[in-house]
Amino acid sequence: MADWTGKNRDHFNNSASTYNTKFSKTILQIIDEIQARRHWIGADSIDLDSETDEEVLTADHTFPNKALKLLDYACGTGLVSRALAPYVSQCVGLDIAESMVSEYNSGARNQGISETEMCAHVGNLLDPAAVPESLSGPEFHGFDIAAVGMGFHHFPDTELATKRLAERLRKGGVLFIVDFLPHEDPKAHSDGYGDVHAPGASDTVIHLGFSEEDVRRNFEAAGVGDKFEYMVLGKGVVFSHEGKEHKRSLFIARGVKV
Ligand SMILES: C[S@@+](CC[C@H](N)C(=O)[O-])C[C@H]1O[C@@H](n2cnc3c(N)ncnc32)[C@H](O)[C@@H]1O
Repeated sequence: MADWTGKNRDHFNNSASTYNTKFSKTILQIIDEIQARRHWIGADSIDLDSETDEEVLTADHTFPNKALKLLDYACGTGLVSRALAPYVSQCVGLDIAESMVSEYNSGARNQGISETEMCAHVGNLLDPAAVPESLSGPEFHGFDIAAVGMGFHHFPDTELATKRLAERLRKGGVLFIVDFLPHEDPKAHSDGYGDVHAPGASDTVIHLGFSEEDVRRNFEAAGVGDKFEYMVLGKGVVFSHEGKEHKRSLFIARGVKV
C-alpha cells in the first residue's frame, strides 16, 4: 500500500522554503476569497451596524473580536490562518511536514504575532489506526472553526479526514474546506499547486478534485452537514509552469456540526 503520508511529508518538507514565493499570487487570491466570505464561514466576530450593514470599528480601528478558535488543518505555511487571523482570537495549525510548520511559525513571529494567537504543531489526525496522544489535550479540541485549505486532494481517506476534523469542533462549530473542482488528470497537463511535475510531487496528489456531492456526502457522514453549502470561487486560479499558464477552478464548502 502506498505510504501517502510519508510521500506528502517528504515532498512538503522539501518545498517549504520556496512555497510562499512560488505560490504567492495564488495564496493572496485564496486569502481574499476566504476573507470575502468570513461571515458566511462563521468568523462572525465583526459587529455590523444594523442600519448600514457596515463593519463597526473600535476607536483604534481594530475589529472587536469574539473569542473564536480556529483549527487550520494541513496548515502548510498558514494560508487559512493568515486569512482569518484578523477575525478570530486564536489560530492553531497542524501539519505533518515539520518544515511547513516552521515556516508557519516563523512567518507569524516575524509579523509580531504571539504564540498564543497563532501557533502550528506537527501532527497527523488522519492515521486510521489511531490519533496521537500528543493531540489529545483540550488545546486541540472545542474549535469554533476547522478548515483545510488545499489539503483534501492530498488525503487518502477524505471521509475519515472529515470525521476526524468534525470531532475537534464544538457543537455548532463550522468546518470549511477550499479545494479543486473535479479536473483532468494532471499528468496530462502541468499543475502547480501541489506541483505534480516537481520531482516526487505527483505521488502526493491523490484526488483529482471534488464535486459538490462528494463533499456533501462526507460532511453529512461526519455530522457536519447542517447548513451545507458548496460554492465555486470567482475566477479560479492560474498557475504558471514552464512559461505556460494553466487555469483551475476552486470551490469552498461549509457545514455546521449538529
Ligand atoms: C498544498 S499544501 C496546502 C497548505 C496550506 N493549507 C495552503 O493552502 O497553502 C498541502 C499541505 O497538506 C499537508 N498534509 C498532507 N497530508 C497531511 C496529513 N495527513 N495531515 C496533515 N497535513 C497533511 C502537507 O504537508 C502540506 O503542508
